[in-house]
Amino acid sequence: MINSSHNLHDDIADILIDEKTLQARIRELAHRITDDYRHTDDLLLICVLKGAFMFLADLTRDLERPHELDFMGVSSYGASTESSGVVRIVLDLNQDIGGRNVLIVEDIIDSGRTLDYLRRILLARSPASLRIVSLLDKPDRREVDVPVDYTGFHIPNEFVVGYGLDFGEIYRNLPFIAILKSEVFAHLNT
Ligand code: PRP
Repeated sequence: MINSSHNLHDDIADILIDEKTLQARIRELAHRITDDYRHTDDLLLICVLKGAFMFLADLTRDLERPHELDFMGVSSYGASTESSGVVRIVLDLNQDIGGRNVLIVEDIIDSGRTLDYLRRILLARSPASLRIVSLLDKPDRREVDVPVDYTGFHIPNEFVVGYGLDFGEIYRNLPFIAILKSEVFAHLNT
């Protein structure tokens, strides 16, 4: 639990990607996706909760093709900054994706374990197509190779928060991607 007198902005060491840069890149991704799906009226975006909620909200507003939205809850990190390597589905889709064009919307690919697991689970449900868009990619951390079709930004191996990404469930509301001060990790004793 974070102290209630605490200002979130005091915990930020640096802003890695500011709001304007994020929004511009998301618009570019949306234009590419709009173009790639121009031949179909069937597109289902699957938002991977919780981290991708803010990215989805902006991406969907910039897409110019008809599409549906659904949500999956996947948890791999718990309260730590490191992946536990264990991926769990905590919320599943409430529809059949057989024969659908599915686009997984993720906030970040780190070890690749979450997307690898999710991709295999969803492919087993026989979609017509399955692609992945990830706002952030930390290539230095990859343990499992996953084909990502659309990537917003490649970022260095820093623990980032904001724009949907959390540390101990906090900081998701920041409108930019930021690097936390190292003392914040010590305070929260992960
Ligand atoms: C984060 C992130 C990805 C995953 C990426 O989710 O949203 O889903 O970790 O890491 P990986 O490539 O090493 O698997 P997290 O489990 O922290 O849950 P959250 O989205 O609810 O914050």
